[in-house]
Amino acid sequence: MSDETIALEEGQRLSRSRLWDWQRRYFMSQGAAAWQSGTVPHYVTSNTFMADAYAQTVLGFLRDSAAQIDRGQPVYLIELGAGIGRFGFHFLVCFFERLAQSPLAGLAVTYVLSDLAPANVDFYLSHPQLRPYFDAGRLDCAVFDATRDSELALRKSGVTLSPAGLRNPLVILANYFFDGVPADAFSLVEDRLYEELVSLRVLGPIADRDDPALLQHVELDHASRPAALPYYGDAQWDRILDVYAQRGGKGRFLFPCAALACLARLRALLDPNRGTAPSFLLLSADKGAHALSDVLGQGASLTVHGSFSLLVNYHAIAEWVRGLGGLSLHTDHRQGSLSLNAFVLPAQLGDGAAVETRRAFADAIACGGPDDLFLVKKALDYRYETLTVEQALALIRITAYDAKIFCGCIPVLREALLRNAASSPLSADILSALALVRARFFSIGEADELGADLADFFASLDQAGSAYAQPAVRGHRFATLRILPAPLIQR
Ligand SMILES: C[S@@+](CC[C@H](N)C(=O)[O-])C[C@H]1O[C@@H](n2cnc3c(N)ncnc32)[C@H](O)[C@@H]1O
Repeated sequence: MSDETIALEEGQRLSRSRLWDWQRRYFMSQGAAAWQSGTVPHYVTSNTFMADAYAQTVLGFLRDSAAQIDRGQPVYLIELGAGIGRFGFHFLVCFFERLAQSPLAGLAVTYVLSDLAPANVDFYLSHPQLRPYFDAGRLDCAVFDATRDSELALRKSGVTLSPAGLRNPLVILANYFFDGVPADAFSLVEDRLYEELVSLRVLGPIADRDDPALLQHVELDHASRPAALPYYGDAQWDRILDVYAQRGGKGRFLFPCAALACLARLRALLDPNRGTAPSFLLLSADKGAHALSDVLGQGASLTVHGSFSLLVNYHAIAEWVRGLGGLSLHTDHRQGSLSLNAFVLPAQLGDGAAVETRRAFADAIACGGPDDLFLVKKALDYRYETLTVEQALALIRITAYDAKIFCGCIPVLREALLRNAASSPLSADILSALALVRARFFSIGEADELGADLADFFASLDQAGSAYAQPAVRGHRFATLRILPAPLIQR
């Protein structure tokens, strides 16, 4: 059979394209392997400093809504598309440490790791580092298809979160998630709105049209067709489209239809007869933008990394939230690697609205937050050897004991340990940092297992003498952390 170009799709709305079937099949078939092989990138969204920034913001939100929390029921924090669970683990460590040291100590909070792929949910249930959280009722998990499902059946507790069933506020966390669920593409040309329809072609022969590996070869064409309003038949969505149409000019943008539909279904989990205090918080980070001018420069090109991703239009999500009487929180500046955003519903406009959430977002995320840190980290990658040991330790502390950064600093730390007596304050600082890094490292059995570097470092210390064998955690704000050896998950 000769190679020929095969048309797999002609003039389809982007959100209805078969691209999304391949996407689903990819995640369903790969399970944990998508992360273990390093195919799906996740470091930027799943590190300790990102988790700690989110933990601070969630605590701010809980302070805003504390008066209406029924202490007899848990507050649920639901992570969408939790993937391998690494962010979730980091969040659990940071959040419960902070909660225990806050006026809200004792509040029952259950974090829910959710994902489309049952294999991922099984991975959470079998992971030894998550077990203590499951056993304490602080963690649960669910298979949840964000494009369809309206309720979550929690695997551990057997509880089902159903529409109108939640009396307590609800928190949704979604990292690297909205970029991988269906969106539509539009363009503005000379003040007119067009829909961008996609056509897909591959070079044949192909054995299976449903094979997600076709994502690696597919050619995508766009064709424009005038779009009339109302387009969706949903008043809110059409109002947002009209915002773009009215702005006019020229541009291309994505409309996050699956994200908005999912958020509406999640919001419907809340009891509608609640008061006016903030009851719904969404925290989300992705490649994308929140400013209208940036959003209008977003095309619909795919980035393929096993699965594929688009850019997220946080401006449209913000418009939707504001249309429902909510508040959206963004940075004043353009973010360099990730767009981090918070959305609160309901929140009357005014200085007093969601004041604790806003303060926490400003302190932990907007200024000197994960995006800033990640940019600085990029400058330091390959230059860790130039740091003094004090600078290396400062960096490790600032990044909330991130394993990747610690591993970058190992040559500097090793050298310092060789030069200083085991009983010296500097050696004690290094060993204390090492103990915290190890306690926070979440092992997933990845090919370039960071845990192996940590284990090697430990082993070399053991060989150097028993003085190094029992590192202690000293004087740290997370001082109650138990030091667990990070078990290596075998693939
Ligand atoms: C790119 S990964 C992000 C994982 C993780 N949040 C992170 O930051 O690394 C996208 C995740 O969303 C899940 N996913 C894809 N489509 C989904 C859907 N319709 N509903 C729920 N989860 C979905 C995938 O299984 C995958 O775990």
